[in-house]
Amino acid sequence: MTIPLVIGNWKMNMLASEACDLARSLVDRLSAVEGVVIAPPFTSLYPVSQIIKGSSLGLAGQNFHFESKGAYTGEVSLKMLKDVGCGYALIGHSERRQLFGETDETVNKKVHLAMQMGITAVVCVGETGEQRKAGETLSVIETQLSGGLAGLSGESIAHLAIAYEPVWAIGTGLNATPEQAVDIHKFIRKFLFERQGFSEKMGARILYGGSVTPENCAELLREEEINGALVGGASLNFESFYAIIKSSLEP
Ligand code: PGA
Repeated sequence: MTIPLVIGNWKMNMLASEACDLARSLVDRLSAVEGVVIAPPFTSLYPVSQIIKGSSLGLAGQNFHFESKGAYTGEVSLKMLKDVGCGYALIGHSERRQLFGETDETVNKKVHLAMQMGITAVVCVGETGEQRKAGETLSVIETQLSGGLAGLSGESIAHLAIAYEPVWAIGTGLNATPEQAVDIHKFIRKFLFERQGFSEKMGARILYGGSVTPENCAELLREEEINGALVGGASLNFESFYAIIKSSLEP
């Protein structure tokens, strides 16, 4: 069985001292639990990495530039993320796509780089509310997947995770129902299988994200198709994030 992956995306929240406090509480209660990853802002990555060192908690960058170094003021490279202890990186989060001009092409460059560097890429895809209403959900996801994963072999896909995050569910308190999420997860799996030569046995994880809370996580994570969660708001508070992690561990 695939170990569920629960990732806390802290976005642009918490000062380094607050991030360290939260990381410390997580280490105290979860030091041996596999499959929990936190994605603090860049300024907290290094101090947090010192706190989680030796525990099973993983560290993720929320974004990075696809070039390895150079005159890119304000950017951070994947090598820099790896240097401060990141084993994971989010790629193509809808906030990056909507607010910062991330495209399927840049997502693709980043995914290839992550593969080369042995970092687990967490590739985010998802439709807006308007696209869902217009019946375009599957074609939007398909375009994001074929652009974002272009040129990757089935084998390399086994090393990444896909996060299905409907944009209308992010930060809105309106989560997708388990049925809605399962439908899209099945579509993504079929795409990986048919178009990317991915074999089920290789076990790529497909996570759900978008208003995951302690109240709705059990019914979502109970679904076999949902291999974990990408959690925003509810990961900023120890009790709510802990409750979600605990629920991911229940059979
Ligand atoms: P949310 O964010 O849980 O606050 O909806 C999820 C995400 O953006 O990854």
